[in-house]
Amino acid sequence: MKIQNIPSLIVPLILFSCVPNISNAARLPPPPPPSGIKGAYWPSWQADTLPPSEIPTAYFTHLFYAFLLVDSTTFQVLVTQPDDQWMGNFTATLHAAKPTAKVMLSIGGAGAAPGTFSNLVSSSRNRAAFISSSVGVARKYGFDGLDLDWEFPSNPTDMANLALLFKEWRAAADQEPRLLLSAAVYFASNFFSAGDIPRTYPGKAVKKYVDFINPMCYDYHGGWDTSATGAQALLYDKSSNVSTSHGISTWRKVHVPSKKIIMGMPAYGRTWQLKNPGQHGIGAPAVGTGPGGGVMSYSAIVGFNAENKASVVFDRATVSTYSYAGTNWIGYDDIDSVQYKIKFAKAHGLGGYFFWALGLDSNWSLAAAASKAWDSVK
Ligand SMILES: *[C@@H]1O[C@H](CO)[C@@H](O)[C@H](O)[C@H]1NC(C)=O
Ligand SMILES: *[C@@H]1O[C@H](CO)[C@@H](O)[C@H](O)[C@H]1NC(C)=O
Ligand SMILES: *[C@@H]1O[C@H](CO)[C@@H](O)[C@H](O)[C@H]1NC(C)=O
Repeated sequence: MKIQNIPSLIVPLILFSCVPNISNAARLPPPPPPSGIKGAYWPSWQADTLPPSEIPTAYFTHLFYAFLLVDSTTFQVLVTQPDDQWMGNFTATLHAAKPTAKVMLSIGGAGAAPGTFSNLVSSSRNRAAFISSSVGVARKYGFDGLDLDWEFPSNPTDMANLALLFKEWRAAADQEPRLLLSAAVYFASNFFSAGDIPRTYPGKAVKKYVDFINPMCYDYHGGWDTSATGAQALLYDKSSNVSTSHGISTWRKVHVPSKKIIMGMPAYGRTWQLKNPGQHGIGAPAVGTGPGGGVMSYSAIVGFNAENKASVVFDRATVSTYSYAGTNWIGYDDIDSVQYKIKFAKAHGLGGYFFWALGLDSNWSLAAAASKAWDSVK
């Protein structure tokens, strides 16, 4: 609510009828968007092939500018010349779009050194430098919020310091105009795989200070294990906890409200080379990565399947799709699996979903199917 724009005569009335007093009002979290979050990351390095003006906001409510990096010694966000050129264009274009969309500035990403974030959160001085710089850049370029994509906090100390960052970031972001705060996070609230240092995200700080989180519910299997095919973003796995259903449940266990959980989905697949073309299920023996060097966009997969007359299988048990042709095997999400996952998200009261990433979809067909499924499930 923009109180400063309301004629002074009616302000007392409105304040009286809506909220008990100003200082409490400033602390109240904003209500979640009624329609939920339909998000997607926009890789800014694709600006020339997918400019902001071509993003169809009919399918998205929140778009994430990916990514700004952080200087490893000053902890200021780094604005490159192309960022300076595109950020204002991104926010102005999407704000003016019909329907309009919210724009988030995402900081970090898979290419950012995790150690920089570890140092960033480790002292109040470093956190303050990052906070004032990130909030300043977000406001300067007209973003609605900031998103932290730290891949990943590596030990319990990092997690404790992350909670401090969330708290202090929130205080700065609460100055008018209020900024949203979100974080792209591991698919689960805890790291539990063999060899991982056990560590758990600070769920209570997320609940208190962060508007929503984006668990990256993908990359469960890939070219780092070429011995067998794998469904990289499956919803259910009977034999392991590396699945989206398990990941989402762990966020609820650490007290993150369902409405703040935005389920990630990949608009890309991962590929294997089968050992034997006759054995082509999930978990079939493989000897290496397949077409595309192990990773393919959904749009390339659709093309590959058509060209190679691939067999396409939607696997109900795992809620994932794969295709195979000869010894080529691709695991991915298609329209069927996306629709099913959206039903799962709705059934669990989640706040929305997001895709990594814009530019990988095939003629917006996943985005359109997801949006339609989200709106049609009550
Ligand atoms: C964004 O940039 C494009 C050119 O790349 C330009 O045509 C368009 O007018 C710009 N939009 C805004 C809102 O600045
Ligand atoms: C999965 O997690 C649950 C609860 O967190 C645990 O009880 C179970 O043993 C785990 N299963 C596997 C296969 O690790
Ligand atoms: C892309 O999608 C639009 C709208 O659904 C459709 O009209 C058009 O034919 C599609 N184009 C291709 C190349 O599939």
